Amino acid sequence: MRRLFFISCLLVNIGIIADAQTFMTNVMGRKRTALNGSWQIIIDWFGKGNKMGIEKDSPPSNAYAFNEYAFYKETLKVPSDWNSQTEKLKFYEGTIWYKKDFVAHPNETNRYFVYFGAVNYMADVFLNGQKLGSHEGGFTPFQFEVTGILKNGVNKLVVKVNNQRREDAIPAMSFDWWNYGGITRDVFLIQTPPVFIEDYFIHLNKRSSNEILGWVKINGTEKANHVAVDLPELDIHTIALKDSNGLYEISCAASPAKWTPSNPKLYNVIVRTDSDSVSEKIGFRNIEVAGTEILLNGKPIFLKGISFHEEMSKEKRRATSAEDARQLLTEAKSLGCNFVRLAHYPQNEYILTLADQMGLMVWEEIPLWQGIQFNNAIIRGKAENMLKEMVWRDKNRCGVIIWSLSNETNISTERNNVLSEMASLCRKLDDTRLISSAFHQFKSEGNKIIIHDSLSNVLDVLAVNKYMGWYAPWPAGTGNIVWQSSFNKPLIFSEFGGEAKYGVHGSSDIANNWTEEFQEKLYNDNIEMFKKIPFLRGTCPWILIDFRTPFRMQAVFQDGWNRKGLLSDKWKKKKAWYVMKRYYDSLEEKTIQE
Ligand code: GCU
Repeated sequence: MRRLFFISCLLVNIGIIADAQTFMTNVMGRKRTALNGSWQIIIDWFGKGNKMGIEKDSPPSNAYAFNEYAFYKETLKVPSDWNSQTEKLKFYEGTIWYKKDFVAHPNETNRYFVYFGAVNYMADVFLNGQKLGSHEGGFTPFQFEVTGILKNGVNKLVVKVNNQRREDAIPAMSFDWWNYGGITRDVFLIQTPPVFIEDYFIHLNKRSSNEILGWVKINGTEKANHVAVDLPELDIHTIALKDSNGLYEISCAASPAKWTPSNPKLYNVIVRTDSDSVSEKIGFRNIEVAGTEILLNGKPIFLKGISFHEEMSKEKRRATSAEDARQLLTEAKSLGCNFVRLAHYPQNEYILTLADQMGLMVWEEIPLWQGIQFNNAIIRGKAENMLKEMVWRDKNRCGVIIWSLSNETNISTERNNVLSEMASLCRKLDDTRLISSAFHQFKSEGNKIIIHDSLSNVLDVLAVNKYMGWYAPWPAGTGNIVWQSSFNKPLIFSEFGGEAKYGVHGSSDIANNWTEEFQEKLYNDNIEMFKKIPFLRGTCPWILIDFRTPFRMQAVFQDGWNRKGLLSDKWKKKKAWYVMKRYYDSLEEKTIQE
């Protein structure tokens, strides 16, 4: 039996059983040991490590031993990017080997997994000298089963991390954010019973708001005796019945209070079998489009949004913790937002879980950012994989209302074919949410801007990134600009704005003078334009906070920072912040009056 487990685990780990679920859902709801903290490292500047048997970790017998490549005194914190931990790694793009020694006492019954919240960008993972597998992609989880490899006593977990940019990576060679490398999210050792609850999706029936649907996926060769889903607060205790494709399905009459930004009601959902049980808080809501309206629980809504990167700019580092998540989302709430665009990649699970609790709707996207070679089948495969991992991970987060496929990818036949296929894949994975993609190419005719991207046909919501007044002059007076679309779909202005360095003041009439006054005027001009777009259903200024990027090296005002934030890198409010606050509060009043 155990050998069978072991072999099947190995096959999954090395990807032979393709398309198998690559990680379990809700790790926070399971028996787990955090492997966070100080890890020994070797900075492998020339990539020699593979040939040096580092994964076998033969520590030097003494200080004089001739081990040119061995873990010794140098360490890095996990979870964290490496760039922010030491000046010598600020710009580092390459390989760093990490090692964590930890004690375990596995028993003969349970199964064991190592789970990584994210590693940017490539990870090769070894346990006790044995390769477990690899993962590509810097922003989604992965796990490897270690049953039978985990030893009683000290275990050595070695991870080779490489963050070098590559043409066939996603994102590819250039992107406007810092290339934070490392084990940037939590690492857990997870224990499960032999037959365990691997995955589930519990949600409101999108066609009837008085019915909860769902499925549960069991991992393990024995049949699960019975699978049940409980929602105690609704007095629901329903047995899930196995269907033809091996999933245990539920459907039960229910009248949960619908999750909304003003009443983010969450219910404790317990999924259990005879030998396993996991629980988490899930909200129930419907999101759909009707013509140019976005309907939340059947009512039209306007998405008062803001974008932000997964970064704590004050400490120039990746955001990693629940506290970081709370600080970022609290800033979004204080701006008057009911919606956040998590740019430009799936951000950590603390942010998604907290958004549910705080009543923030979420736009989540994979990092198909600008220059992507859509005619490259390898890249297409990677993009699909990242989409699956994003949806697998966050499908139970009711705050997520939009999955976005790409950002500012140029219109082409290949791009439209690939993204159309990905839209269908996304709907197969989850048909309860909306699909979008942020455009940056339009037709202009005098004061008219026409959305003509034919990808719009497969999207539920259109989204445009447009920096009039910053990257290009206004094509006409801001009150005379006409946005046109023949798609009869809702529009989100997913990016707009311009740069200002906090504390720099001057005339608002001199374009691009980096002053707060110019940025303030830019925002007022955009809002003037928004009022004339009849099918506009959301706005998302770019961006909440100045962020680090090697793109932005203008010596006086940028110095490695993108200064489009409404908040400075020290989170000080610029004048434009107050413009957006007034705009969102005015929309709030309008909604209340209606
Ligand atoms: C682009 C892109 C952002 C970038 C922004 C900018 O639209 O989506 O990632 O930071 O513009 O130019 O500041």
